[in-house]
Amino acid sequence: MNNFIYDIPVRVYFGENQLCHLGEELSKYGKRVLLTYGGGSIKKSGLYDAVTKEIKNAGLELYELSGIAPNPRIDSVRDGARMCKEHNIDVLLAVGGGSTLDATKWMAAGACVEHDPWDFFSKWAPVEKALPVVTILTLAATGSEMDSGGVISNPETQDKIGRLADPLLPKASFLDPTLTYSVSPYQTACGAADMMSHIMEVYFNMEPDLYMLDCFMEGMMKTIIKYAPIAMQEPDNYEARANLMWTSSWAINGFVNGGKQQAWSCHPMEHELSAIYDITHGLGLAILTPRWMKYCLDETTVSKYVQFGVNVFGIDANLEPMDIAKQSIEKLSAFFFDTLGLDNTFTKVGIEEKNFPVMAKKACGDGVLPGFKPLAQQDIEKIFAMCR
Ligand code: NZQ
Ligand code: ZN
Repeated sequence: MNNFIYDIPVRVYFGENQLCHLGEELSKYGKRVLLTYGGGSIKKSGLYDAVTKEIKNAGLELYELSGIAPNPRIDSVRDGARMCKEHNIDVLLAVGGGSTLDATKWMAAGACVEHDPWDFFSKWAPVEKALPVVTILTLAATGSEMDSGGVISNPETQDKIGRLADPLLPKASFLDPTLTYSVSPYQTACGAADMMSHIMEVYFNMEPDLYMLDCFMEGMMKTIIKYAPIAMQEPDNYEARANLMWTSSWAINGFVNGGKQQAWSCHPMEHELSAIYDITHGLGLAILTPRWMKYCLDETTVSKYVQFGVNVFGIDANLEPMDIAKQSIEKLSAFFFDTLGLDNTFTKVGIEEKNFPVMAKKACGDGVLPGFKPLAQQDIEKIFAMCR
């Protein structure tokens, strides 16, 4: 097990009626607030009115940027960074799902530099500081509310690139499960698949590691499997929404990483799919993950699948290891495609074979994608072919 540093300094306000703390939280950073949001779900739900009321009651100055799209674009980031500079913004308030949160984090960084914000991704320009960001989460999925990452798309170059940087970590996040009651069954399912993947990217690892963390991750995976279908059928089931929301944050806030190598596999592959086809991130992950598992299964890795199958899906531990492993992949597929009802092939979501080589090449950075099993371009093309 490797040494690690544990440091997750995000203040979390969890539960209903916590917005009364919003004014005091924002006021810590100054007077001028840039409120950012997406395509309008927060107006339909009434959250916009509640948030603006709190901001005004606290005597703060409100500026707004709306229209942040799913798979957020660099243009939104550019607009936000410009607004921050023009209006001398003190703090950004992101209200929405992962896309709004991610874009806002990069606006906050873009506000502190003179160069084009895309340079953070194309040239890996240093991220030395960012304006403070506070979030109000409306969709349990990405964990952006409690991590230092943000993923941005550039349609001109067909790139979708994620990057972590400490200054992007939100100062505070408001997690009210009732705000996710209006999330559609489809987005709930995609969010569940995304959270599952965040955990599996760390869990599927052959390094000796902390048993405690494996148990924690198994508990979170069981939580998703138990509560995602309930949330889809009963959108206003508080217990289901609350369990999913807190799992979203803990799946990726860094806690489960302790002592493990950090290379992920399915996310780099998925980002290439949504870069070109603009599909929902969790959907792409659901299609890829069982195929990736199948591709990586052999005598050297089987023990991890056995642990997963027995502890997460309750498969009989007395069966042959390979049988347990194969059953665990079937169980996961059944969860994604039958229980959550997500499409199960690339064809169904319009991903074409002609782009397999270019997507595979980008996913491995024209080298080898490290991870559970190192994957070169041809390995990734084979995994894509299994998804057809
Ligand atoms: O834009 P609005 O109108 O708000 O509608 C959104 C959007 O259409 C809607 N929605 C959100 N909350 C809602 C709601 N609809 C009804 N009621 C609510 N309460 O849901 C749609 C999808 O929203 P989006 O923010 O795109 O979804 P998600 O949270 O899944 O974010 C996906 C993005 O995050 C990135 C993904 O790649 C993708 O770009 N990721 C970010 C990560 C991170 N920061 O660490 C890690 C992830 O692995 C992921 O890559
Ligand atoms: Zn993800």
